[in-house]
Amino acid sequence: MSVSRPIPTGKEIKLDAKRFIVSKTDTAGKIVYGNDYFSDISGYKESELIGAPHNILRHPDMPKAIFYLMWQHLKSGRNIMAVVKNLAKNGDHYWVVTDFDIKRDQAGNIRHYLAFRQAAPKHVVAAIEPIYSKLLEIEDEHDMDASIAYLEGYLEEKRMNYDQFIEELAKPKGLTGMFFAKMKKMFA
Ligand SMILES: Cc1cc2nc3c(=O)[nH]c(=O)nc-3n(C[C@H](O)[C@H](O)[C@H](O)COP(=O)(O)O)c2cc1C
Repeated sequence: MSVSRPIPTGKEIKLDAKRFIVSKTDTAGKIVYGNDYFSDISGYKESELIGAPHNILRHPDMPKAIFYLMWQHLKSGRNIMAVVKNLAKNGDHYWVVTDFDIKRDQAGNIRHYLAFRQAAPKHVVAAIEPIYSKLLEIEDEHDMDASIAYLEGYLEEKRMNYDQFIEELAKPKGLTGMFFAKMKKMFA
């Protein structure tokens, strides 16, 4: 089903820090499952989400480089954590820390991908927003290769890769971390 792309309003949706937005896709990124909170926050009915490509939520402020890195990790069988700004159906947005996981069949082949999302804390958004807008600016003026090269340079200086950087910045800790791990186990 094709859905016309919403126009961003610049308004942020406040997420409940205690709830998780969960979705599952096939290997091409087509949504096969979403929990109730996913529908509530995105503003799409379950029937609109199931079968749709996950880029239905793509916000134009998200650099291509981040999704490129994400897919590179997943396709090579590695989980990854990323900070993502998503676009709801009414054009409002919400920032999430997302844990992308791989689900394999008994033969070890990748069957599905899972995404577990939580509200991104304010300090995480404050740290990420200027980096993403720089990457976007580079992509507008040059291309994605140039923005990836910039990101690599930025992270090299910190002696980290993107995944380590995000884990250190945004990995849920304490009680929230425990709930997060427990909830992920339920889907394992
Ligand atoms: C499990 C899973 C969850 C995803 N969740 C999101 C998401 O919340 N928001 C988003 O913009 N893209 C998400 N993506 C990535 C999209 O599939 C897509 O690559 C991205 O939106 C960029 O769109 P484009 O490839 O059309 O440029 C997800 C992919 C997978 C595999």
